This record gives sequence, C-alpha cells and structure tokens, in this order.
Amino acid sequence: MVNNKKITQTTSKIYKNVINYAIRETKIKGRLELKRTFYLTTPIYYPSGKFHIGTAYTTVLADAIKRYHLLKGEDVYLLTGTDEHGQKIQEKAESLGKTPKEYVDEMAVMAKELWKKMKIEYDDFIQTTEPRHEKIVQKIFDYFMEKGDIYKGEYKGLYCVPCETFFTQSQLVNGKCPDCGREVREASEEAYFFNMKKYANRLLKYYEDHPNFIKPDYMKTEMINNFIKPGLEDLCVSRTTFDWGIKVLKDPKHVVYVWLDALTNYITALGFWSEDDSKFKKYWPANLHIVGKDIARFHLIYWPIFLMALDLPLPETILAHNWIVMKDGKMSKSKGNVIYPEELIDRYGLDATKYFLLREMPVSQDGVFSPESFVERYNSDLCNDLSNLLNRTVSMVNKYFEGKVPEYNGTPNEVDKELEEFAISQAKKFEEIFNNYEIANSIQEIWNLVSRTNKYIDETAPWALAKENQQSKLQSCMYHLIENLRKIAILIRPFMLETSDNILRQIGIQNENLISWQSLNDYDKIKNVKVIEKGEPIFMRVNVDEEIEYMQDLMKNR
Ligand code: ME8
Ligand code: MG
Repeated sequence: MVNNKKITQTTSKIYKNVINYAIRETKIKGRLELKRTFYLTTPIYYPSGKFHIGTAYTTVLADAIKRYHLLKGEDVYLLTGTDEHGQKIQEKAESLGKTPKEYVDEMAVMAKELWKKMKIEYDDFIQTTEPRHEKIVQKIFDYFMEKGDIYKGEYKGLYCVPCETFFTQSQLVNGKCPDCGREVREASEEAYFFNMKKYANRLLKYYEDHPNFIKPDYMKTEMINNFIKPGLEDLCVSRTTFDWGIKVLKDPKHVVYVWLDALTNYITALGFWSEDDSKFKKYWPANLHIVGKDIARFHLIYWPIFLMALDLPLPETILAHNWIVMKDGKMSKSKGNVIYPEELIDRYGLDATKYFLLREMPVSQDGVFSPESFVERYNSDLCNDLSNLLNRTVSMVNKYFEGKVPEYNGTPNEVDKELEEFAISQAKKFEEIFNNYEIANSIQEIWNLVSRTNKYIDETAPWALAKENQQSKLQSCMYHLIENLRKIAILIRPFMLETSDNILRQIGIQNENLISWQSLNDYDKIKNVKVIEKGEPIFMRVNVDEEIEYMQDLMKNR
C-alpha cells in the first residue's frame, strides 16, 4: 500500500497550476487533439424510496449539461450514484426484513432502471457501500486524524433524525429543524469532529477570488451571512449509536458520519488514492457539482474545506438549484401530491417531461409543478409553437416545391435578413445563458426563436407570394424556415434528443456537418435536401380537462 501523505503531495504538485479545467491530449486517428474535459456530478441520492420528479430534476439537468458539452466536442464525464449509509437506511431495510446491503443494492437497480428509462447518459454510478469507496474514505479519515484536522470530542446537541443533522439552538427555526421543519431532539455521544474553523478564512478568500465558484450568486451571500460569519461550527464526522456505516479503522466503535462519507464520492469514484487513478488525473477538478438548495451548505462549505485539507484543487462551479414544489408546497405522500417521472413519461413522452422540468425551474425561486401548467406548456409550447411550425413548413415545401428545399439565394430581403440575424444571435444568447447555468432562461431563448419564426410566416405570407408568382421570395422564405428549424433542432438536442432527430428527419437534414453545434453559425449551407412527403405532428394537442383529471387521480390514488 502506498503512503497517503506522499500521494497528497504528488497530486497537489500535479494540480498546482490548474486553474479551472484542463486541456487534455487525446489521440484520435493518429492525430493529437486537444479536448477540454468536463467532469460533472449529481448528488448521490438516498435510496429511501422511489424517486419523484424532484429527484429526477437534478439528474435531467445534469444530463442536459453533459449532452451540451458533448455536442461542443468536449470529453465529458458524468457521475451519479446512491448514498447508502446511515440510520434511516438501516431502519428502512429492517422494516422490510432485509439486510441493509440487500436493500441498497435493490434500490441501486431501481435507480439505474429509472435513469435508463430517462435516457440519462451517466458514465459511472457509485454506491457508497462499494469497497472502492469505503477503503478510500477510511484512508481519508485516518489522514485527517494524523494531520490533526479531526479530533475526538463529545457531541451534545439538537438532532434532527430524518435529516441526520445536528443543529445549534441558534440555527433552529421556531425551535424546529431549519431544513425540514420537524421536531429535533437532544442527543449526546462521543464523536469525532472536523476542525472547520481552521479553514474558515481560507474559504472566504477562495469565494472572493473565484466569482464563478458558486451559482447562483445569492447562494454565496447566504453561506457567508448565515454560516461562516456567525462562526463556523466544527462538523461531527463519526457516530457510535448505529453501525450501518464505514468503520473508522483506528477506533472501530465509530462509523464515519454521513457527510464525510457522502461528499468524498466525487473523488473516490475517479480512483483518488487508489491503484488506478488515471480518471482522477484526467478529470479532477470537477467542472460542475449540481446540488439542490437543501444540501448547498454541505457542498459550498464542508466539501471545499475537505478538499483544502486534502490539498486538492477545488471544483470550478457548484450549482445550487431550487426545488420543484407543488401548488400546496413540498411534495409528500401524505399530502397526496407526489408525481413520479415514469408516469409523465409513459403518458406524455420523455422529451415533454424533460422540457417541462427544465423550463419550469427559475434561477431564484422554486419551480411549481401543477397539472394545469404541465398541460398548458404541452399544448402551447410544444404543440402550437414547435410542432405547428414544423408542420406548416413541411407542408408548404411540399406544396410549392414538391418537397425540395430551395437553396440559399444569397440576397435576403429586409425581413429575411432580420430573421437570419435573430437566429444567429439567439443561438449565442442561448449559449451565454446556458453557460451561466440559467437553464430555464436559456430554453426561453430557443422558444423566442420558435415564436419569431412562426411570426415570420405571417409576415411573409408565402401563400400570397405563391399566388403572385413571386418565385424568388417564396424560395427564400422556405429556405429561411428550414434553416431556422434546423437551428432549433440543434439547440434542443441537449434535452430533447428524440424530438430533435424527428425534426431533422422531417426536414431532410442527415448530414452530420449540418447537425453539429458549430453549424449554428452557418446560414447558407443547406443543399440538395428534401423534406418528407407527409409531415407528422411531433406533439399533438391534448384535452386540458381530461389530462388535469388524469394527473390529479394519479396523485390521489397512491
Ligand atoms: O441529500 N426538487 O440525498 P437526497 C428539486 N444523499 N430537487 C430535488 C427535490 C425537489 N423537490 N427533491 C430532491 C441527499 N431533489 C444526500 C446527498 S451528495 C454528496 C449527498 C434533489 O436523496 C436535490 O438535488 O435527499 C437534492 O439535493 C437531491 O435530490 C438530494 O436527494
Ligand atoms: Mg434530502
């Protein structure tokens, strides 16, 4: 076995000069190619029950960001998994008459089946009960003990069982857990602590020097004002009252307590401190950790501090998103307001489901799921706007040009020119906003292009051009419609792949060069292309009342 300290020194040397991300060399067809690597992660989920659309949201978001970077030609690596230790899981397994390991393994299979159904392209799935994780967590714990960052103490505090978190009196809200609002109880036990205070100033300085480290910005202010400035509490990192956890090697009556175990998955999965650490070398530091606001504190404060203590570079960005809530607040089975992703997918399709989740989540407040808003978006955004644009275009190209898309004539009139410029600038806007992880807003920009293109049909009135025999204007009009549809199809690819393929097939675009992300800058390259003979609607209007009733029934009849 290798000596931990030595490895830390080596890794820190390797990464000394890395600022945000690394350009890596990849050998492709004998050529040396520079590819930006992009490593992103979802939280590892507690396998305590079926995943609802809230949990699915984070993963859908991660997958969309992955696909976007893939389209841009980067070497992307997406990690997800399950967080399998702790009292809650142990109790849940016992209540089902299973061993904890049997239980978590079954749940991991359930999670993988869901991600398969949702076509989530993850590259690795880590379970925290795997030896590859447990062994390294033990080493890290030992290392922190040796280093003096972890010390033994006595924990007396107020404990929230469902959240598995200790709180101080001042952190409580109306005497209850600040995270879930439930009762807390007094608890006391021998425990190890991580000396967070030691790193508080370094963390503040890091925040200051790295404006992109936390997104959205207001999260940073929250962390500073609510947790760091009032004095950072040391973090309890071991427990003795339950044993479903990773044993502390030097003091085996303790098991490693949840956050030190959970957070380190982002590096153990890459092989940090293990024999094959090639992935770690290639992908660390992460470019993006995606987390919900409920666990922002752990990722924005404790995780960077653990990394500092390991002498490792910090991730480029941590994105803390809001929640998907229902009209009557948080989703819960007792309220009868839970929706599962499978239910939406089976009835409305994967793309519509992803579209809704990503489109309905604002940057600075919770996104609301309601049957009404789902059906409204389905009918208006997907059917009226997108599907109709495609349909009208395909049928006009068939009617006026026997399906053959006219080529670009190079002399656009005023209206055409404005449309062209708009399409090019919308793609740029999309990127800018997407890169800032304001995903719902970036999708809005795509739909602005959809609307603008629909409006263009009304402005140019191709039926009148045909009647008046204005052949060149009519050709230009059809070209511009097809070109914009091509762009729209590319822009939605990260989160609506099937729809994108469907649009491209209908407008006859099969050439890879015309589907590449770079081709968003082109406006004149479509040649020798035929649309399909009879357009097929990609989304069909649904009956509003029927669908609302359908979804309400689903939620009630659990
Ligand atoms: O916290 N809306 O796991 P978890 C949006 N194991 N996102 C939601 C959501 C909702 N209503 N409900 C859940 C844990 N999520 C830890 C994480 S990471 C090292 C350890 C998402 O199963 C959101 O991202 O409680 C949240 O942070 C994540 O699911 C946590 O799921
Ligand atoms: Mg949670």
